[in-house]
Amino acid sequence: MKKAYIETYGCQMNVNDTEVIFAILAKEGYVRTEVMEEADLVMANTCSVRDNAEQRIWGRIEVFNQARRKHPGMLIGIVGCMAERLKDQLLETKKVDLVVGPDAYRSLPRLLQAITPDNPQIDVLLSRDETYADITPVRTDRNGISAFISIMRGCNNVCSYCVVPYTRGAERSRDPHSIVREACDVYQRGYKEVTLLGQNVDSYLWKSGTESVNFAALLRLVAAVAPDLRVRFATSHPKDISDEVIETMAEWPNICRHIHLPVQSGSSRMLEKMRRKYDREWYLERVAKIRSVMPDCGLTTDVIAGFCSETEQDHQETLSLMEEVGFDWAFMFAYSERPGTLAARQYPDDVSPEEKNRRLNEIIALQNRKSLERYRAQIGKELEVLVEGPSKRDPSQLCGRAGNNMMCVFPAQGRQAGTYTTVTVVDCTSATLICK
Ligand code: SAH
Ligand code: SF4
Ligand code: F3S
Repeated sequence: MKKAYIETYGCQMNVNDTEVIFAILAKEGYVRTEVMEEADLVMANTCSVRDNAEQRIWGRIEVFNQARRKHPGMLIGIVGCMAERLKDQLLETKKVDLVVGPDAYRSLPRLLQAITPDNPQIDVLLSRDETYADITPVRTDRNGISAFISIMRGCNNVCSYCVVPYTRGAERSRDPHSIVREACDVYQRGYKEVTLLGQNVDSYLWKSGTESVNFAALLRLVAAVAPDLRVRFATSHPKDISDEVIETMAEWPNICRHIHLPVQSGSSRMLEKMRRKYDREWYLERVAKIRSVMPDCGLTTDVIAGFCSETEQDHQETLSLMEEVGFDWAFMFAYSERPGTLAARQYPDDVSPEEKNRRLNEIIALQNRKSLERYRAQIGKELEVLVEGPSKRDPSQLCGRAGNNMMCVFPAQGRQAGTYTTVTVVDCTSATLICK
């Protein structure tokens, strides 16, 4: 029996892709190991979204090669977005045997067969229709409670800073029947939560004959699988999130009231330059709509500091938007120029690294303050929590997420992982609700 070890970087879609890869490898007789040194095949499923994501991987390639010295015959593969973007450069290092892009995982068995010491193998073809719909992922989550399901691949937007459309190809939606089947399957195996994944879930659209399923309809289909199967999704795009989706969330108690709605910037001038296809007012209107329909809805975002030509004024507008909306949580990044993107070709990366960092730090400080405010506002409330398991900090306590995605910690008192429980919030930090 051969063993495969895969490290996963980047987004949740990559986590699910790794599970698809394990399923493909299983047919070739590979079992999963979490110990690199004992593996016959070592891979990194990579991300290209920022330069530092790629820098990390060059370091990992060295580490894999060190492990190979103690385990001759070990195969080393780089798969995912960085494989797609830096194919030849990766092969030129002569330190990898395998380079496979996100749409080519079905070729893995053939490529593995063909590898010889002087013959590394590569497949980085992008596809118009690959969705791996028929492949049942080998779940890699730790507790058997929460599963990721990819509902689409690729992206048709052309946000000027973003490399994803180049590494993942054109957008395509997966057959809804296969999605519902997968949700039923994980539910029968004891899972209590599914997260539907796509770069822009609101543009999900499946058409076949007279049948047409949009994202709101897909949400209803998955929510109907079982009343005690929670449904989450990511990522929503502000230009596309529809009233129908918001109202569907409100109607179904098992669709979690949390929306990850990346804003990127609070300046309409920057948003235009980023080609996000909405402006500040549009974004604030969508937030107002969400909160009017679901006042308790959790709201998180992504922010980029120091995009091309960003002025102090633009930066202040980002801060004021964050102040106004009050996100529960945010992923915050300094702009990182990606070769080949529209911004790299057309706009100078002209905000200095020091200035980017100063702005990023202000954004982070503001968000920390806002997170604490948002978490504090929960004190006294009763929340329904899906118990995930022991708390990391204090194993005598349990942890689990509320519908709004906030992490709760509470006394075990005989509660079991994978069950629902109602807790009362008594205290908090800026990232955890302390409950009884
Ligand atoms: N599809 C999602 C986001 C995918 S990438 C969306 O449209 O919102 C995840 C996040 O990485 C983005 O929201 C953005 O905030 C950040 N990001 C993408 N490209 C970046 C770049 N070149 N520099 C810095 N951050 C970037
Ligand atoms: Fe990138 Fe924009 Fe597509 Fe998101 S929507 S993946 S930011 S191009
Ligand atoms: Fe990274 Fe590719 Fe995801 S670039 S964020 S792993 S789609």
